[in-house]
Amino acid sequence: MNHANTVTNVINDASQIVHFDGVLHWCILISLFIFLIGMLWVALRVLLPLRRLAKQAASIIDGKLPEFDTPSSGIWEVEQLRRSLQHMIGQIKQAQEREIVYRNALTESQETERLRIAREIHDDTIQSLVVVAHSLERAAHPIKALASDASVHLDTARAQLIRCIDGLRQLIANLRPTVLDELGLAAAIEILCEDHPNLEFSVAGCAYEIDHAQELALFRAAQEAICNAERHALAHRITATLIYAPAAVTLEVSDDGRGFELPRQLQEFASYGHFGLLGIRERMAHLGGQFKVASEPAAGTRITVSVPRAALAAA
Ligand SMILES: Nc1ncnc2c1ncn2[C@@H]1O[C@H](COP(=O)(O)OP(=O)(O)O)[C@@H](O)[C@H]1O
Ligand SMILES: [Mg+2]
Repeated sequence: MNHANTVTNVINDASQIVHFDGVLHWCILISLFIFLIGMLWVALRVLLPLRRLAKQAASIIDGKLPEFDTPSSGIWEVEQLRRSLQHMIGQIKQAQEREIVYRNALTESQETERLRIAREIHDDTIQSLVVVAHSLERAAHPIKALASDASVHLDTARAQLIRCIDGLRQLIANLRPTVLDELGLAAAIEILCEDHPNLEFSVAGCAYEIDHAQELALFRAAQEAICNAERHALAHRITATLIYAPAAVTLEVSDDGRGFELPRQLQEFASYGHFGLLGIRERMAHLGGQFKVASEPAAGTRITVSVPRAALAAA
């Protein structure tokens, strides 16, 4: 009898344990389910939107300015973060635009100032020096007849004066290339190239008239690129090509010199006080043109700038 009771008790205990095990099993399953739902919610509302924002923000390092204008599907805090980033980008863009306007105004005032200086040198300084040179020439005639040392000194002074006048004329040409207005872009660049014996200049395509501001920008680009090739490249050969294509006018300046490591962003040059290439790029951007620089150490440099013809015609 006792035996039978014991067996019954054991069976009862076992059934209770089995029952408890079942409940535990369900509890674990439900907890796991809730946990998975929670994880999914965290992934969808927090991690994914954050990841999207982080990916967009990473492109800032490469100089891009993403809009952050698509509302995030994330939690309130993530959406706030997106709005802050959007606001920050807006501020950066505004600051950049202000800087561009300021620099363009600066470039224009530089050109005006160059024109003023060039005119003053041409109208005052050179004219006075030419008069002095003539006076020296006239004074030298009677003295020459005496075959004195004074005539040699006068000749030397006159020759020096003429070199000085030539130098000033060159300075004027660089300050304000009047030849640009008189003879056009190709002739102005050709004259610029005459000073560089290792430079070959050629024109491709059929030349057509272009807007003066853009012509001036192409000329300034040629000046800077040629000056860089002379100063920095130690090149044996420099080539400048002006290409008149139906849609755009392009200038390409290449050298076979020592080249250089391009910074991640060209803007970095500004912090080292180098503004030449940046200046070309900004002028081109302002006029709706393009600017490219390709360079590698020991492999030379190529600068390409172009302005679209449509914009020129519209301007
Ligand atoms: N053709 C070139 N060959 C070699 N290095 C160049 C050339 N053009 C530019 N560089 C390098 O790029 C730098 C930036 O040029 P740039 O912006 O014109 O400034 P800057 O001429 O005043 O130094 C130069 O200091 C030089 O190191
Ligand atoms: Mg330079």
